[in-house]
Amino acid sequence: MARTTIATLAAKKRAGEKWVMLTCYDHVTASVFEDTGVPVLLVGDSAANNFLGEENTVPVTVDELIPLARAVVRGSKRALVVADLPFGSYEVSKEQALETGIRFLKEAKAQAVKVEGGVRVIDQIRALVTYGIPVMGHLGMTPQSVNAFGGFKVQGRGDAAETIIEDAQALQEAGCFAIVLELIPAELASRIRSEVSIPVIGIGAGADCDAQVLVWTDLMGLTEKAPRFARAYRDLRGEMSGAVKEWMDDVATGRFPNEAETFH
Ligand code: KIV
Repeated sequence: MARTTIATLAAKKRAGEKWVMLTCYDHVTASVFEDTGVPVLLVGDSAANNFLGEENTVPVTVDELIPLARAVVRGSKRALVVADLPFGSYEVSKEQALETGIRFLKEAKAQAVKVEGGVRVIDQIRALVTYGIPVMGHLGMTPQSVNAFGGFKVQGRGDAAETIIEDAQALQEAGCFAIVLELIPAELASRIRSEVSIPVIGIGAGADCDAQVLVWTDLMGLTEKAPRFARAYRDLRGEMSGAVKEWMDDVATGRFPNEAETFH
């Protein structure tokens, strides 16, 4: 079966069918998610804090993210794999954005990239789209700007809403195939959804979005302090530490390995 394409996502929007995108940073997890039929996997720069132990997404580099994206592509067959362009890898010029986008498609074999920002990066987005690189936009609380925002705060309240709406329209006009809306009032997300024809993907943006995205370690209860908008569907942190403790106990008491696990 072929991978999800950007045309598939546009068709889902026309049909009013809601879908999900899930972050993913490695091969084995990608293969588990692939089995679920998740249509889009995002190799987010959130790998910085959720995989590489950084404080936020700012420090992660292209060279760090490409091997993770390649592993996710190898672990999946039907999901559309979108890779984040890390902070500092696209802002400088159209040429810089193109060089980075091309690396993600050639070296990782990702099928699309995600870029944070609206009007301010519109030339970069146009260049990527012109040369055949599908682009997902990202507006609202864009984590690469956390230092400018002074923390992870809801964006787009009051007059700031108009700027986000203008950015969303500019992203659509530049050829983005979808837009992530992060940590904005639900009413604003709903308005953007009604004003653009491309899918809007919410994270902390309320229910009136075409799709929802979550960081997989939040969804599975692995993150120690998950944001309020994330729901943990499992307690993998508890499950994993429980399994390790059980195994340690079995080794200490001679219950592991048993006869079936032993060669003679
Ligand atoms: O990197 C990431 O995980 C993201 C999602 C929060 C959309 O950009």
